[in-house]
Amino acid sequence: MRTRKAILPDAKDIHELICAYSGDGTLLPRTLPEICENVRDFVVLEDEDKIIGCGALHLYGTHLAEIRSITVAPWAQGKGGGGKLVKALLAEAKRHRVDCICLFTRKPDFFVGQGFSVAQREDLPDKIYKDCHACPRFHCCDEVAMVRGDLPKFAILPEPANWVQLQGWSPNVEEQTTSR
Ligand SMILES: CC(C)(COP(=O)(O)OP(=O)(O)OC[C@H]1O[C@@H](n2cnc3c(N)ncnc32)[C@H](O)[C@@H]1OP(=O)(O)O)[C@@H](O)C(=O)NCCC(=O)NCCS
Repeated sequence: MRTRKAILPDAKDIHELICAYSGDGTLLPRTLPEICENVRDFVVLEDEDKIIGCGALHLYGTHLAEIRSITVAPWAQGKGGGGKLVKALLAEAKRHRVDCICLFTRKPDFFVGQGFSVAQREDLPDKIYKDCHACPRFHCCDEVAMVRGDLPKFAILPEPANWVQLQGWSPNVEEQTTSR
């Protein structure tokens, strides 16, 4: 079993691996075009030339990267493949001199074993601005935020347009208009 950087012909296998766990919400669904576009983020796990696992590292900047879409085929789990994928993605983060690696998961125990610890979602504003703000489960998120490394001290992405409303506060535009 070994890991390597993904190439475009791997996209179909990666898509199938992710689909197997996106139906129940374990993984975020990724379309085939999206995987092709971001294939350079992916590492695959191979056994006898067959792809049996994958994982991706999304780069925000040297302050933050995120492990996403990490999975091993059900029949190949429990043999060290998941650990190999995390190790390869951490090596990629190190190559890019990233200070903090984050992820959101419903399997925190696996990632504790890989050196991650639980964080607050609010510690990772870039993740909120990129994905969470558009998620229907924003106010009832059941995923655990986890990090390895130094928490980011800033966000590189701008606040999304719906940010003020999402936080439960919105300026009374009507009052402002009528009082003029
Ligand atoms: C999570 C997943 C990637 C782990 O892959 P794997 O190949 O089974 O993991 P490994 O065999 O490398 O396990 C490494 C260690 O983690 C432990 N581990 C594996 N899955 C675990 C889990 N769900 N909870 C707690 N510990 C777990 C193993 O016991 C092993 O411990 P050890 O080093 O002390 O022996 C795999 O179960 C999977 O694809 N799950 C479905 C998709 C998913 O949940 N992805 C993560 C969502 S963010």
